[in-house]
Amino acid sequence: MKLPKELLNNLIEITSNSAIACYPYIGKNEKILADKAATDSMRNQLNKLNINGKVVIGEGELDEAPMLFIGEKLGNGNGPEIDIAVDPVEGTNFVAKNLPGSMSVLAVAEKGNLLNAPETYMNKIVTGNHIPKESIDLDFTVEKNINIYSEITNKKKSEITVCILDRPRHKKIISELERLKVNIKFITDGDVSGALLVSDKKFGVDIFMGIGGGPEGVIVAAALNTLNCNFQGRFLFKTTEDRNRAIKMGIKDLNKKYEINEIVKGESIFCATGITDCDLMKGIIKKNDKFITETIVTHDKNVLQIVKNEVSIA
Ligand code: FBP
Repeated sequence: MKLPKELLNNLIEITSNSAIACYPYIGKNEKILADKAATDSMRNQLNKLNINGKVVIGEGELDEAPMLFIGEKLGNGNGPEIDIAVDPVEGTNFVAKNLPGSMSVLAVAEKGNLLNAPETYMNKIVTGNHIPKESIDLDFTVEKNINIYSEITNKKKSEITVCILDRPRHKKIISELERLKVNIKFITDGDVSGALLVSDKKFGVDIFMGIGGGPEGVIVAAALNTLNCNFQGRFLFKTTEDRNRAIKMGIKDLNKKYEINEIVKGESIFCATGITDCDLMKGIIKKNDKFITETIVTHDKNVLQIVKNEVSIA
């Protein structure tokens, strides 16, 4: 089965509209309301599609509704079975505080082709498609990975840039990068965007590493897989409850290092619409009676496409 042809345009429209739905909350310090507006919009629109969809990456589980919960059925039921990963607002703090970097994100694949992942942290390492598979590894030391990257690319360590979430949990990695004189691009949130920065030299990031959300890891893997980039991830569980939830979801080896092709298989579509300005695309612009949005899309062409949309203000 192939994904329905019209799905690509449908999804671009959906993330575009869900981004617009939280436009009124930009800079209003109301991250829950912003998230709810985008989520409601995404759910309503997905439910109109001719698909038999199921949320495999969502926000919370059934009892935490009204978020789009894991296991929720979406679509009108008249169509193919589709796995859906949603992040209606990636970077809720950015929307609340009117800072760059927020976007509305969706990824889909055929049923069974997206990892059903729990809401927990994930340790990740990401490089671009100019790096041979299996050269950089999540289990190598920071120094070993930097040395390998330097050898492959002929770049001095001082010319390499690593993107990482600015968190106390990364203290050790950061001091190691500082000792090696590597450049660090710190991000305060939004590691979907951070990971995508390795996909093109023009973004100036060589490696993305560190611990961020597991759902964000799966969702970005869909884009990185289409772009032939390298991604490895390992879930991290803090509590017994977290571990039990993962086992219930079918994860047998809780310490497993996932390769990208174990997270996403086959054809997938990834769409992310900028809410505020992002490194990869512009945020929503309100002009006269229209909203103008930019959406980054990956599908089957191995390129990160930017699609502009104009939506009339109702
Ligand atoms: P939200 O949009 O859900 O607030 O997530 C933002 C984010 O920065 C993600 O991009 C990242 O994966 C995760 O939070 C990191 O979690 P934490 O803030 O707990 O370090």
